[in-house]
Amino acid sequence: MSEQPPPVPLFLAPMAGVSDLAYRLLARECGADFTITEFTAAAGLTRRDAKSWHKVASDPRESPFIPQIFGGDADEMVHCTEMLAEVADMVDLNFGCPAPKVTRHCAGAALMGHPEELLDMVERCIEVSDVPITVKMRLGTGKGPDTALELAGRLESLGVARLCVHGRTLQQRYTGAADWDFIRRVVEAVEIPVIANGDIVDARSAAACIEATGAAGLMIGRAAIGRPTVFHQIKSELGWQVSPPPWEAELNGEEKPSEAGARHWAWKRYIELDDEVNPERPNRNRKRHAFAFTKGLPGGKSLRTTLHREPTAEALAERVREFLENSAAENPDNQAET
Ligand SMILES: Cc1cc2nc3c(=O)[nH]c(=O)nc-3n(C[C@H](O)[C@H](O)[C@H](O)COP(=O)(O)O)c2cc1C
Repeated sequence: MSEQPPPVPLFLAPMAGVSDLAYRLLARECGADFTITEFTAAAGLTRRDAKSWHKVASDPRESPFIPQIFGGDADEMVHCTEMLAEVADMVDLNFGCPAPKVTRHCAGAALMGHPEELLDMVERCIEVSDVPITVKMRLGTGKGPDTALELAGRLESLGVARLCVHGRTLQQRYTGAADWDFIRRVVEAVEIPVIANGDIVDARSAAACIEATGAAGLMIGRAAIGRPTVFHQIKSELGWQVSPPPWEAELNGEEKPSEAGARHWAWKRYIELDDEVNPERPNRNRKRHAFAFTKGLPGGKSLRTTLHREPTAEALAERVREFLENSAAENPDNQAET
């Protein structure tokens, strides 16, 4: 890389089944500047459903606290925003989810095909909220013209504080390359900060995305699954952060910790944090994270075929920890960036 881009904040993307509270706290310790809860149905929150409220639980270490909600019923979304505004620092509205179980109710990304309804919903949420409202959206539905550009200007006029644009349409779901050129057009059309999202996986793609979009921040999703260390790695490789990574203790006398060493630290820390924030019962994402943390490491595949036999969440955590510890000892050259 010839010229390093100036620092911008890095966001852990909201991800259902991934970005639980312990994982968000871990991502912060690994260099993420902002974390957002996974999307939570306004319907569940307004009926005071305990599971839904668990999804938007936070911790003083997570500041700012940004819950994300979705729904197709404007009254529910408004009521929910009002409830969350009492406890949150900002509320993020999801207009990006492509899952049929969401879009069927004209929620998530489906609302991008109904701009007037979307705008009316956002305007009413802003009216009842004492905290800033942010919006995460896609480019459009993929049927008919993309609406993100027109919506961005109108959302700004309504008072939306920040936009995040995932550079794909609803129809694309996660296929094809994210359209960073389109994101640049949104960045240039509004004054409020626009966060670019889609296909940022490392320092090189982070720098390329900043150059292509001019965005005020970057959001990282899939590349942070099983690799929360990606945030520090991007910052240190781009010269934004010179402090040593928290997993330096895993150095084992090496100049740089191995990828497995960094993951070993992160996995132990995730379990510690999960035990802390969920003392009654480990959260149900643990198995998914266990699979993700072992991906791409020699022997990970055969380990994963046996993980489902572990009788308890504690046993599963220990199996993965031992595997990562051994991987770090056996593959010291498989280096993580610091
Ligand atoms: C497992 C998974 C769950 C997701 N859940 C959410 C969600 O709850 N809310 C949301 O706005 N986007 C969600 N997304 C989309 C991501 O936030 C992000 O926009 C998308 O993955 C593109 O970014 P990436 O290329 O960095 O992965 C999810 C994505 C994945 C892979």
